Amino acid sequence: MSAPNKSYDPVEVEALKPEEIERMRDEALAAFAAAADLQQLQEAKTAHTGGSSPLALANREIGALPPQAKADAGKRVGQARAAVGRALAARQGELEAERDARVLVEEAVDVTLPYDRTPSGARHPLTTFMERVADVFVAMGYEIAEGPEAEAEWFNFDALNFTPDHPARQMQDTFFVRGPQGAGDDESASGVVLRTHTSPVQARALLGRELPVYVVCPGRVYRTDELDATHTPVFHQIELLAVDEGLTMADLKGTLDHMVQSLFGAGMKTRLRPNYFPFTEPSAEMDMLCYVCKGASVGNPDRPCRTCASEGWIELGGCGMVNPRVLVACGVDPGRYSGFAFGFGIERMLMFRHNIEDMRDMVEGDVRFTRPFGMEI
Ligand code: DAH
Repeated sequence: MSAPNKSYDPVEVEALKPEEIERMRDEALAAFAAAADLQQLQEAKTAHTGGSSPLALANREIGALPPQAKADAGKRVGQARAAVGRALAARQGELEAERDARVLVEEAVDVTLPYDRTPSGARHPLTTFMERVADVFVAMGYEIAEGPEAEAEWFNFDALNFTPDHPARQMQDTFFVRGPQGAGDDESASGVVLRTHTSPVQARALLGRELPVYVVCPGRVYRTDELDATHTPVFHQIELLAVDEGLTMADLKGTLDHMVQSLFGAGMKTRLRPNYFPFTEPSAEMDMLCYVCKGASVGNPDRPCRTCASEGWIELGGCGMVNPRVLVACGVDPGRYSGFAFGFGIERMLMFRHNIEDMRDMVEGDVRFTRPFGMEI
């Protein structure tokens, strides 16, 4: 045992008095509380917990005390240092949280900002899809044929066997182009209409080409419909015409099947239902197998299909063998040549192909609609 420390002089250990220790502790706590950022807290930490801080120096003095005083002082200093350590950790936590929150605000990346000042556009899906359909036929040797959108009534109706009083003229809600000023009130006086279908290109192709004729005619057409979810007064059709020696309805059917297989995949097929068009005889309505359920939803309530409303088939458009009257009107000998034709709307096909529910999305020109289709060429 060591002898009592005779040289103990309370004056020399002033630093270990309870008030002194409390003061050191409180100064440390005040300094931490006053630290406005992590840098200042680091400075306060060095000053109040570092090797030459008042509490560290006081701690070093304990050794010089007599045993009882040593225990008391040790406890006081220990408690004070522990309190300082806790306060430091707490303030450190607060300041770090503040910094993190500030960084999140100040350094936030606005992901909605345009990343590109000259963003690349996207071609409209109607354009790309129409080209894709036309390509199926170009690959088979067909040529692309075009005609005017403001079309002579003769091409739009007469050449196609719609006689002037033919009730079928009313089948299509025609925009008539007004004649020149002074030509009277009769809007049809100009003899020009906005074409109601792409079929007039059939007559133009027959008149302008050598036989045989194999053409595909994509284009814009017009009808007096209000714009709503399923109608638009301006829409697109694609028309096909083949006139050659010996063509039959089997050629038409094979061509349709090939088209739907090219566009919708292997195993696809079409079916024909009798119908009437003045320019084809016989005429048919053409359906394609539903490319989603492939007919499996029919009569099967456990497997309903939204795409075809569980009908198994999707209506595409009209088709048939070119009416001999059309051939005659276009100077083609129906005794030697026969032909087949079909036509359908592009918007409708695009809608069910991409689950587009509202036709207006296709005409409003919002890039948010076109962009997801990408830069498909
Ligand atoms: N032109 C018709 C329409 O717009 C569609 C059509 C039917 C086109 C039969 C054809 C065809 O080529 O053969 O309603």
